[in-house]
Amino acid sequence: MTAKIGIACDHAGKELKQLLQEYLAVTDFEVVDYGVANDSQASVDYPDYAALIANDISQKKIAKGVLICGTGIGMCITANKIPGVRAASVWDEFSARMSRAHNDANVICLGSRAVNDHRACDYLKIWLETEYEGGRHQLRLDKIKNLENTYLRSPS
Ligand code: RB5
Repeated sequence: MTAKIGIACDHAGKELKQLLQEYLAVTDFEVVDYGVANDSQASVDYPDYAALIANDISQKKIAKGVLICGTGIGMCITANKIPGVRAASVWDEFSARMSRAHNDANVICLGSRAVNDHRACDYLKIWLETEYEGGRHQLRLDKIKNLENTYLRSPS
């Protein structure tokens, strides 16, 4: 079965989203577009779009997600609130590679105002092509999962 990847942005990320969609179209992923629409002129709130992707990652409806806002930071903060999401703010080749190899990130967050568009495309490619290393890193991911479970039992 073809793995699904979701992509979403706020108003600040529209142009970069279109470029990344062109790249994703030539990968083996089935691409799911969560908006904002390319022709939208509205100023929108990044948490609304991060939540769409994060909820579907959490429910395993999609395998991976791409979130774009001005900095990548707001999307990342929001997505990481949802259980099962490991969103990484990526700004160079190293963070792209390590967020997969050590953190098994399932969402990449990119800042349209922080990185050059074509570099962002390179970072996404590296991120998609880097395998999670497992091993000692799994113990750490298990600890993250334990924290999630703790707060799910007693939300504040
Ligand atoms: C929108 O102006 C901007 O705040 C948003 O795209 C993002 O950078 C927030 O983290």
